[in-house]
Formats: sequence, structure tokens, C-alpha cells
Amino acid sequence: MTPTEANNLPDPEETAFFGYRRVRAAEKGRLVEQHFTDVARRYDLMNTLLSFGLHHLWKRTAVKMLGLKPGDRVLDVCGGTGDLALLAARHVGDRGRVVIYDFNRAMLEAGRPKAARSPFGGNILHLQGDAERLSCPDAGFDAAMVGFGIRNLTHPEVGFKEMHRVLKPGGRLMCLEFSQPTWGWFRRLYDLYSFYFMPLAGKIVAGTSRAYTYLPESIRLFARPEELKALLEEIGFTQVRYRRLTNGIAAVHVGVKG
Ligand SMILES: C[S@@+](CC[C@H](N)C(=O)[O-])C[C@H]1O[C@@H](n2cnc3c(N)ncnc32)[C@H](O)[C@@H]1O
Repeated sequence: MTPTEANNLPDPEETAFFGYRRVRAAEKGRLVEQHFTDVARRYDLMNTLLSFGLHHLWKRTAVKMLGLKPGDRVLDVCGGTGDLALLAARHVGDRGRVVIYDFNRAMLEAGRPKAARSPFGGNILHLQGDAERLSCPDAGFDAAMVGFGIRNLTHPEVGFKEMHRVLKPGGRLMCLEFSQPTWGWFRRLYDLYSFYFMPLAGKIVAGTSRAYTYLPESIRLFARPEELKALLEEIGFTQVRYRRLTNGIAAVHVGVKG
């Protein structure tokens, strides 16, 4: 083994957070995978229910901010059931391509009927794999996006570096992720809603309260919008800006591969 190979081996002592639980870093991916297998069948319904339909609006706004053009090749990292990919497919048209990239087969399968029903579904490809090791060549995409996915990675910065690698120079990045409301009273209300109502709704509708306890916990531990902006700039993205949605419940970041 060369010294470089030895440096790249995972550290067996490294830990990561799965919600508020500290777990071995090597175990987190398996827990996240299981989490999405548990919720896949009801994922879209739960999203609409828990956000009162707002996630559709957030996704439309986020894809618009990406500024796609007809013919663009787009990578949807952690694409899941493909909402962002379907929106992107409209923008890129017949000459474009959108790849939904996700490591969870149940989520990809749950989204296939939506792609089949869409008039733009023919431009969408599904690829199963880990976002921290994209099986895509360098500089092959005009745009890369990740929606509500980066927070689940064991090493979010590695996921962003991979997105940077597969973008063409001048290619655009979009990250849509949950954040926290800016108004104090609204944040307290949102805390009550997410720590009490979400797990209860998860139990009733999706048959799992654990999965919907992980969701608010992982949101609270995730980087603030300004921290995320700094991380993207450190990785090499330029013209990074962000917009808070619904008083900061979600935030969209966009940037350009310089
Ligand atoms: C909350 S869902 C978001 C799905 C979709 N982007 C949306 O906005 O509705 C997160 C997705 O990220 C995927 N995911 C989490 N960690 C991943 C990883 N390391 N590699 C690839 N996919 C991952 C999950 O399987 C899941 O489908």
C-alpha cells in the first residue's frame, strides 16, 4: 500500500451524527440508507403533508435560480423520487439530459412512475450510487443540484467537491436544503411542530416515528446558510449567493464552478 492509499483509508475511530445520535462514520451511510428505504413508499405524500405543499414551490424557485438552458446536461445528486429532475427536464428540453443519482433503490423506484407519466420523463436517466463517490467523469455536466440531500451525507464537503469535479468550467451548482426560521417566535413554533407533530404524523402515515425524528434533528445540526456559503467558496465555487425561503425554513444556494 502506498502512503497516499493509506491516507485515503477511512478512519475507524471517526464518528458522525445520525440525527442527535453519534455513530461510527462508517455506519452512518447504512443508517441513512435504511431510513430512506423505510419512508420511500410514502416519501412524496409525507413531503406534501408536512410542508403543506410548500416543497413544490421551494423546488420550483430553486430550479429557476439554477438558470437552465435548452440542451443542458444536469446531475440531480441525492435525487430520490425525482421532483427536481422533473422540473429541470422541462427547462432542458428534448436535447438535454437529467441524471437522477441516488444510492437508495427504493427511492429511485418510487419515483419512476412520475417520470413515466411526465412528457419530459424521456430525458431522465436513473443512476444508483454514493454521492461521495460519483461514478461520473470529470467536467461532464452544465449544472448539478442537490435537494434536501446534502445534510444526509457523512461528509457533505466531499459531496460538494464531487459535484464541483463533474461540472464543466462555468457550470452551475444549486443546493436546496432545510434551515431554520429567522424570527424567534416562528422558530419556537417550528420547533414544537417539528419535534412533536412530525414524528406523530410519521407514525400515523408512514408507520415510522423514528424516521421523522431524524429529520428535525438533522436539520438542527446542519450548517447555517452563511456557513454553507463559506464552505462552497472554500471548495472553489464562485458567485455564491443564497436565498431564504419561508422565513428560512429552507434555503437555496447557487454558485458557479470558476
Ligand atoms: C430527503 S431525500 C431528497 C430527495 C429529492 N432530492 C427531493 O428533493 O425530494 C434525500 C435523498 O438522498 C439520498 N441519499 C442520502 N445519502 C446519500 C448518499 N450518500 N449518496 C446518494 N444518495 C444519498 C437518499 O437516498 C434520498 O433519496
